Amino acid sequence: MPGYPVLPEGLAYGGDYNPEQWPEEVWHDDVRLMREAGVNLVSLGIFNWSLLEPAEGEYDFGRLDRILDLLAASGIKADLATPTSSPPVWFRNRYPASRLVGREGQVLAGGSRHSFCPSSPDYAAASARIAGRLAERYADHPATAMWHVHNEYGWANPQCYCETSAGAFRDWLRDRHGDVAELNTAWGTTFWGLTYGSLEEVEPPRISPVGQLTALQLDFARFSVEAHIANFRREREAIRAHSDLPVTTNFMIPNCKPMDYWRWAGEVDVVSNDHYLDSGRADAHIELAMAADLTRSVAGGRPWMIMEHSTGAVNWQPRNLAKRPGEMRRNSLAHVARGSDSVLFFQWRASRYGAEKFHSAMLPHAGTDSALWREVVDLGADLGRLAGVRGSLVEAEVAVVWDWESYWAVELEWRPSVDVRFRERVEAYYAALWREHVTVDFVHPSADISGYRVVVAPSAYLLTEAAGKNLHRYVESGGHLVVSFFSGIVDENDAIHPGAHPGALRDVLGLWVEEFHPLPEGATVRLGAGGTSGGTGGTGRIWSERVRPAGARAVQDFADGPDAGHPAITRHDLGAGTAWYAATALDPRDLLRQVLDHAGVTRPRDLPDTLEAVRRGAHVFLINHDDRPATAHDVTGTGVLDGRQYDGEVIVPPGGVIVVATTPRRNP
Ligand code: GLA
Repeated sequence: MPGYPVLPEGLAYGGDYNPEQWPEEVWHDDVRLMREAGVNLVSLGIFNWSLLEPAEGEYDFGRLDRILDLLAASGIKADLATPTSSPPVWFRNRYPASRLVGREGQVLAGGSRHSFCPSSPDYAAASARIAGRLAERYADHPATAMWHVHNEYGWANPQCYCETSAGAFRDWLRDRHGDVAELNTAWGTTFWGLTYGSLEEVEPPRISPVGQLTALQLDFARFSVEAHIANFRREREAIRAHSDLPVTTNFMIPNCKPMDYWRWAGEVDVVSNDHYLDSGRADAHIELAMAADLTRSVAGGRPWMIMEHSTGAVNWQPRNLAKRPGEMRRNSLAHVARGSDSVLFFQWRASRYGAEKFHSAMLPHAGTDSALWREVVDLGADLGRLAGVRGSLVEAEVAVVWDWESYWAVELEWRPSVDVRFRERVEAYYAALWREHVTVDFVHPSADISGYRVVVAPSAYLLTEAAGKNLHRYVESGGHLVVSFFSGIVDENDAIHPGAHPGALRDVLGLWVEEFHPLPEGATVRLGAGGTSGGTGGTGRIWSERVRPAGARAVQDFADGPDAGHPAITRHDLGAGTAWYAATALDPRDLLRQVLDHAGVTRPRDLPDTLEAVRRGAHVFLINHDDRPATAHDVTGTGVLDGRQYDGEVIVPPGGVIVVATTPRRNP
């Protein structure tokens, strides 16, 4: 990729830097303190459009020149941003047709960022122009290390429902479906007599009186992702005309549901991601690990960058909990363990004004006489010691299927149960694997999965026929597949696969489903002894269904509920592999253990659940999320952070992190 790694000397450390919010004398303090903390990269100019181009076509680069010179003189690099996520007030007033329109048809106000229509030709022209001007001016500046295009595409304006968007959507539909007859067939518009006479009659899925064509909604979601990608490409090419440095844009994996990041993956030179803890969750660190693994997977396994996370509290949750002592360090090093070559934050210095003044920063309002600042300085020192990790890879034997289209589709209206949520099942299976200390990759269901010992599909409601065949081939040739209920049900147009459910997976799972029996709110069903191996109990939530084996055998039956005496878990031996199926929302740990053992996935068995253990290249990261010490075994090498030698046993203090540069074990 062009110019990567960004910082060949080691990991990048720093964050968003908004010096324009401060008088210039503060900048000198900033760079002095950045050096004290070991900061070597800052994201600069993200919200500078109105300063750089105060009136259309009139530019003022003076302030940015001065700050870049100051950074260069201090040895700090810039991840230089194009400011296009926040168009200036003049732009909005001059181009009213570029305003964002919500699903209800209301025009969204200014006084905020992201308030523009992604399909606006005026926005396209203006954003490419400012990106080109920046690249032309700063491509060769000694501080410039990489380009940060925009900020979080699609977070606040994922879809626009204005007439310009409607026209662009129709063009997109023409490319996808050809003509109106094809579209009518694909969308099944004979239903409710919704047949279109021409593509010109198609409207975006604005608020309608009652349930709407789901295929229309899915296509509009796809179109909208591509509208954002087109904007990114335009800016990227404007930069490319002047610079070969790496270009990125900060994703929000996995917490920006409307953005299909598999589609985005190939567009950037380095994948970068913003991730914020859901501080109310006891298992927030597991969700962080999932985000990091998914980000690495979107990056195709290559190193990536955590572009933003927080040193402490955010400002946009209902209750913004400060991080506990050591938590920022654990969070940061968990990202590094899972493939990040950076630790970057929003933001360097806490703001005094505007919507984010209660958001934590590297330099808090309290200043340097604070525990948080001391943690920031210590983290910088830790990252200096971890320089050798940069560029190394994380390997996984297990993959989890993740498809944004399935995420969208399963959560549209009028499904069998509102309790069936994409993240609910994916996180349940991910957490069970995390607690088993199994590092996973995420995969698109059509990807080449032949290299994994186990593939888990926790929520694959939308699965194309081709993806179903991909999973079938995988099992036949020796793979081990685990599928959870309500998967393989519809195709890319949200049409039920012909015949009994689950149409795309009937053959590989060796079963069919006679009827769904979603459970009442809060109800559970018991799993009992049954099938060939006898069950060990447990409960299911959300779902039950009547499974009819056709080649598969029951591993465990439902003990009560609407499907008492019928299979709850099945196994199908097919070719050289096996396919397992769970017909309810169970705690998947026992099932996964069985499958991992069967597939020969080795893992440390005597570690506490709360110890995160990840190998990245030659480094083993041990992160203790408990308030008791935790012991890991069979780890030999040098402690990179503490300088100690380890020969087999490593005791990780409560809340602590130990990273061991391993040496191969000698044969006795
Ligand atoms: C996002 C944005 C930042 C900031 C943070 C606050 O990640 O990119 O500009 O608003 O959220 O958490």
